[in-house]
Amino acid sequence: MSAPVSVSLLVNGEPIDAFVLPRINLADFLRENLKLTGTHVGCEHGVCGACTVRIDGEVVRSCLMLTVQAHGASVETIEGISDSGEIADLQAAFRERNALQCGYCTPGMLMTAQDLLKHSPAPDRQAIREHLSGNYCRCTGYQAIVDAVEATARMRAERPA
Ligand code: FES
Ligand code: FES
Repeated sequence: MSAPVSVSLLVNGEPIDAFVLPRINLADFLRENLKLTGTHVGCEHGVCGACTVRIDGEVVRSCLMLTVQAHGASVETIEGISDSGEIADLQAAFRERNALQCGYCTPGMLMTAQDLLKHSPAPDRQAIREHLSGNYCRCTGYQAIVDAVEATARMRAERPA
């Protein structure tokens, strides 16, 4: 078995130094070592999007990334972007439109939706569907999720600068 290796990274702005086995993926490290269980694990194969986090500002599937690959990076999880208030309006829109049921997909869905709204502030419904197409939801039928993202885009556009 390989020996643990040293990694240093920022997680939600906090410096983390740890020793990890080289095969431990980032999703497991966040959940098991740091107890950041908002990052969910569904397929473990990069398909469902439940494990989506941001690395240096870009969304990635943390089940596909080894923790050692995140050495030196800034990782943001759903806890971080939720606590900062960055997605408060998006979360409220999800709640108001019943865009979640079991909630398993929701952290990844919120991370991905926020990524879309950052890069494309006024997406149409087709663009929202396409951007979220890699995030699976087995409960909602997606309609309410698209409604919530569309409503958030509209509210942000109307908000005074
Ligand atoms: S658990 Fe990572 S994409 Fe499904
Ligand atoms: S709300 Fe259950 S998987 Fe999406």
